[in-house]
Amino acid sequence: MELFSGLGGWRCALRDRGSVIAAYDVSEAANATYALNHGCEPRARELATLPVEELAGLAADTWVMSPPCQPFCRMGNHQGLGDQRSRAFRHLMDLFRQAPPDHLVVENVEGFLGSDAHALLSERIHAHGMHQLDLQACPSRFGLPNRRPRAFIVASRKSIEPCPLPDLPPTSLAGYLDAAEVDGLYLKPDILARHRPGLDLVEPGDVRSACFIGGYGRRYVGSGSFLKTERGVRRFSPSEVARLLGLPEGFRFPEQLSLEIRYRLLGNGLSIPVAAWVLDHL
Ligand SMILES: C[S@@+](CC[C@H](N)C(=O)[O-])C[C@H]1O[C@@H](n2cnc3c(N)ncnc32)[C@H](O)[C@@H]1O
Repeated sequence: MELFSGLGGWRCALRDRGSVIAAYDVSEAANATYALNHGCEPRARELATLPVEELAGLAADTWVMSPPCQPFCRMGNHQGLGDQRSRAFRHLMDLFRQAPPDHLVVENVEGFLGSDAHALLSERIHAHGMHQLDLQACPSRFGLPNRRPRAFIVASRKSIEPCPLPDLPPTSLAGYLDAAEVDGLYLKPDILARHRPGLDLVEPGDVRSACFIGGYGRRYVGSGSFLKTERGVRRFSPSEVARLLGLPEGFRFPEQLSLEIRYRLLGNGLSIPVAAWVLDHL
């Protein structure tokens, strides 16, 4: 069961290890994108009020979840469980107490580790006598020229052995770029002049890019990398960001979704090779 399913990153990472019997997300844009790419619509539901009967009735052996990260972000308010956006996670922890699956995987930003939410999760895992492994990984170790450090909490009724963390050299950004460039992605001269000192600029031959956040479509400094070409400085396109996340080639968005929304959905997303490595632990 994929909770807070977004674009379906966990579903992509699952590959032939199993199948998703239900996905849940409250966002219309995320659900339309999920349906277009995976051929089935998530349940458009507020998870903070999901009844235990519905969840238990699905009898999923594994829950994978990526709860909102803002309460644990470096730039966020650090309110953890006290943040309204943690309400659904708190509720799911109650459901976990009542109807635990065999395996559970939670993904979040690194600030989740050591938070009150992490403590609650660990307490619930141990109350069921399950094993727990906390992991940290970044796609830059998986051959991808992108940073996206994340924490993963893996729990299982079986014992869990840590898998070796790959250490592949990242390839150059050139291999992730679109064949045809879109003019609209280039920054206008006045915008570039205003933001240039703080911009994270990279070139096609570089082997790194910064983490792309949900606000990449409207913000400049600290939101992700910008590409310097012979023509000027531009944003990475949504399909380029999708490639850097390891989403399958051919991943697409419903036509009606604005550029800003596409970036927001990608900024919430998962690095697929990293998520697949995490699932290898089960
Ligand atoms: C961090 S993103 C997860 C991204 C996902 N792992 C992916 O691969 O794209 C969190 C998602 O949870 C959804 N969400 C946030 N709060 C929710 C709630 N209370 N109930 C249901 N969905 C929620 C958001 O719409 C968002 O798509």
